[in-house]
Amino acid sequence: MSDDDQQLNLFDLSPIDSSPPAVPDFDPERIPTDAKVPIPPGTYQTMEQISEHCNRCDRCELGQNRTHAVIGRGNPNAPIMIIGEAPGQNEDEQGLPFVGKSGQLLDKILESVKLSTDREVYISNAIRCRPPGNRTPSAGELEACKPYLLEQIRLIDPKIILLTGATAVKSLLGDKRGITKIRGQWMKWEGRDCMPIFHPAYLLRNPSKEPGKPKWLMWQDIQEVRKRLESINN
Ligand code: URA
Repeated sequence: MSDDDQQLNLFDLSPIDSSPPAVPDFDPERIPTDAKVPIPPGTYQTMEQISEHCNRCDRCELGQNRTHAVIGRGNPNAPIMIIGEAPGQNEDEQGLPFVGKSGQLLDKILESVKLSTDREVYISNAIRCRPPGNRTPSAGELEACKPYLLEQIRLIDPKIILLTGATAVKSLLGDKRGITKIRGQWMKWEGRDCMPIFHPAYLLRNPSKEPGKPKWLMWQDIQEVRKRLESINN
């Protein structure tokens, strides 16, 4: 091939294959229908695969009333992952986490320190299906859904994990202490920096911004998170 031909070949616009890589081991039909069936790390290669499974999952009874399984929203390569409790009505309808009032407040809290789901943040929940009447998820439901959460963490690979509220803390860390005792404290989980913070719904019920009150404490915590991210980046 002449030099000219070689250079001209660089102009070839061969079609780019944007489909996800073939995953020989992934069989969407193989749905664990019993919470005792393990979902080992590495089962899923993409969020879409997790979503596909969760939308058919019956590892616990919450799937019976599900409109959509709620997987996550935000940048799948984000350095910060936020884990909430469970989808509510809006989330179940839209299939996205934190899209109701709590979500609007969470977005504002992030914005206050220039964090965004477009860049630095990915949001998910301890469980993927809405509990009836928005009750707190049971220990069995948290356990049944945990393999999906762990797979999401593995795929996102965040440097920082924020746990909003006691249920998220209990699910990931197994720590049953009250959130007011442990919020704002850095912990380590599997080598990742992890901080329990208040749930935005709690802040909606406690709107005072006075020093020492929950909203003020959240402001301290989110600034601390921003600083930690900068120190990781530099
Ligand atoms: N509260 C949560 O914990 N998660 C949501 O997705 C919505 C509200």
